[in-house]
Amino acid sequence: MDSAAARLEVTTAGGSYFIQIGAGLLAQAGEAIRAAVPRAASRVMVVSQPSIQSLYQERLHQSLHAAGFQPFWHSLPEGEAAKSFAHYNALMEALLAERPDRHTTLVALGGGVVGDMTGFAAATLLRGVPFVQIPTTLLAQVDSSVGGKTGINSAQGKNLVGAFYQPRLVLADTQTLQSLPMRERKAGYAEVLKYALLGDAGFFDWLEAHGPDVLDAKPEALRHAILTSCQMKAAIVSRDEKETGERALLNLGHSFGHALEAAFGYDGRLLHGEAVAIGMIYAARFSHRRGLVGAEVPARIQAHLERLGLPVAPPPLPEGVTPEWLARAMLGDKKNSNGKLTLILLEALGKAVITPGVDYQEVVACWQQP
Ligand code: GLY
Repeated sequence: MDSAAARLEVTTAGGSYFIQIGAGLLAQAGEAIRAAVPRAASRVMVVSQPSIQSLYQERLHQSLHAAGFQPFWHSLPEGEAAKSFAHYNALMEALLAERPDRHTTLVALGGGVVGDMTGFAAATLLRGVPFVQIPTTLLAQVDSSVGGKTGINSAQGKNLVGAFYQPRLVLADTQTLQSLPMRERKAGYAEVLKYALLGDAGFFDWLEAHGPDVLDAKPEALRHAILTSCQMKAAIVSRDEKETGERALLNLGHSFGHALEAAFGYDGRLLHGEAVAIGMIYAARFSHRRGLVGAEVPARIQAHLERLGLPVAPPPLPEGVTPEWLARAMLGDKKNSNGKLTLILLEALGKAVITPGVDYQEVVACWQQP
């Protein structure tokens, strides 16, 4: 494995850009933004959260200054609660008070919450200004910062208000993962495993051997896991930017997982990645119930997650959350229609398939007896 910074291109109708992956890239962010957004105004707006700013604000600030930018900082509150209409409103007013123009560039420094909110703000500020993703969590580096899904939550559900809006650059500094709490690393690992399960059996073998090194943030293992994940995501998003087809494969484990997240009210008892880990086991079991794969497939996935200390079953469900409740929550997901569900199932370990027209009762049965 090569330890130099890697560069991957994402090519979509909504814009082409590079993902840069490497240790220490934050210190070069100013120059990288200059190159990716040549007409960027000198006032850049960095959106972040206090816990991330306390670690990286100074480094990014210096790098931006050195490249001739005058950064303006806006802090969102911690956690998923930041992706609300109220905080979107506060962010937009703060940005507008700085008198931006079409060349004002927004920078998201943080995890998926910061990236989703900043991307949506960039898509809507003056009908669209450039933005750059600097993801600082494993989940954001392998998934949410790439591909241009942006959005905020409503009382009706997560990410129901948003836009496909591509960044101009994704700068993934793997060093930032050294300070990530282990629970967050594990949650991000679920998205790494997702790529192996949906399209690369060889990568699954590699993860079985090197998963612990990834979680220990060993630089080479981390870099290989992020690079392999981003290669797959870049290729899929380049072919299907707006999820009219194969991009839906990236939702493996997410329908089951979103239902569990909703059941726990997004209160931190179950992180998104943890819900996806459990959701992938349910998707594999569902695939087995349909005769698509043998029982060894869900068993192997579960054993791998168990060995790494990821959750393989939900915590005790809140009162009133029944198999019917969970199946209804899945039906409410924006990818479904006409009372039928579209699920991402496995045809083999390393090969996922989009499966429309799944009956509600079949899903209830899976929740009853996984
Ligand atoms: N997180 C799935 C996607 O970007 O399509």
